[in-house]
Amino acid sequence: QDRETGRLLQAYEWSEKFYHFLLKNTEHGLPALEYLRGRGINDKLIEQFRIGFAPDRWDTLVQFLDKRSFDLAEMEKGGLISARQSGDGYVDRFRSRIIFPIANRSGKTIAFAGRILGEGQPKYLNSPESRLFNKSRVLYNFDQARSAIRKQRQAVLFEGYGDVIAAWEAGVQNGVATMGTSLTEQHAAMIKTTADEVLVCYDGDNAGQNAALKSIPILEQAGLQVKVAMLPPGLDPDDYIRSNGGERFVRQIVEDAASTTKFRLSNLKRGYKLAEESGRLDYAKAALPIIAALHSPTEREVYLRDLSSEVDISFDSLKQDSNLIRQEQSRPAPGQEDPGPAYSGPQQGG
Ligand code: UTP
Ligand code: MN
Ligand code: MN
Ligand code: MN
Ligand code: MN
Repeated sequence: QDRETGRLLQAYEWSEKFYHFLLKNTEHGLPALEYLRGRGINDKLIEQFRIGFAPDRWDTLVQFLDKRSFDLAEMEKGGLISARQSGDGYVDRFRSRIIFPIANRSGKTIAFAGRILGEGQPKYLNSPESRLFNKSRVLYNFDQARSAIRKQRQAVLFEGYGDVIAAWEAGVQNGVATMGTSLTEQHAAMIKTTADEVLVCYDGDNAGQNAALKSIPILEQAGLQVKVAMLPPGLDPDDYIRSNGGERFVRQIVEDAASTTKFRLSNLKRGYKLAEESGRLDYAKAALPIIAALHSPTEREVYLRDLSSEVDISFDSLKQDSNLIRQEQSRPAPGQEDPGPAYSGPQQGG
């Protein structure tokens, strides 16, 4: 670790403590404390997640760092403060925002996420990437969640900071979140070092469901088992916990999580009118390739039985179709035949 990195780590640590102090001990922090209380974030959680507040002024942090002889140009490069738009000098990057410190895997603060109080854009402002912070390699709360993840061999993956915090209070302490970006291979590999299984617990809106569909294959590629929590439309885990309580979240959402196949099918189903015969048939046609692709005959049987009762088509017909589809699926697509050394012209189908 070089000197500049060391100085930047030091600056992030002090800035985090400063923002935390301002939240708890000054009048600047009062509206923020009130906002946090309103969201169910109590003092214990404020401590646990080292939450802070950046006041509505231009140079609170700039002055703090300057007084402690940090090189402001270096701090700007490290993402802590911003260069003034016009003229020389520096201004605070975060103003009138709740500060959620982002830690690396050893618990050192390397970035901040700042949430606006109430409505406004952007809702969250993150530190830019820097020599310390690479979004595609950092998971919020991974440092604190690691021991619970290791014990349970499972991690719960959320979309938002608020979800991680609310779940923690509900007793789900193996929760982590990406930083408002899509899940990457690096994130999945990071989880795989400590877990065998991931429970994807994204928001119950379309964006959340689509994000889950994208994250599942990345997690599976990393060798993780995947389950998916199904939230009521329009609620995120934080909302759910606030309106239904933590116990219910654990029982109905975490413990009742679906297999990825069940999730894919129920997601697909939303696009069809099952009350109509043609809708049922179209849904069956769309669902069959998903079921046919499953390796386990037992699993195929289970989902085909469910499908049979949903679309009112006999199990036997569905099974025959599924077997035909399996044969097609196992045949290489044109132009994608295995070009290995033993290859000797196109294969006969069947
Ligand atoms: P959401 O819009 O679901 O926010 O975005 P949220 O976490 O539920 O926010 P609250 O509950 O209103 O406070 C999910 C995540 O996407 C990232 C953040 O990481 C957020 O937690 N995000 C969202 C941003 O980075 N910037 C934004 O402006 C919005
Ligand atoms: Mn404290
Ligand atoms: Mn969302
Ligand atoms: Mn959300
Ligand atoms: Mn939320």
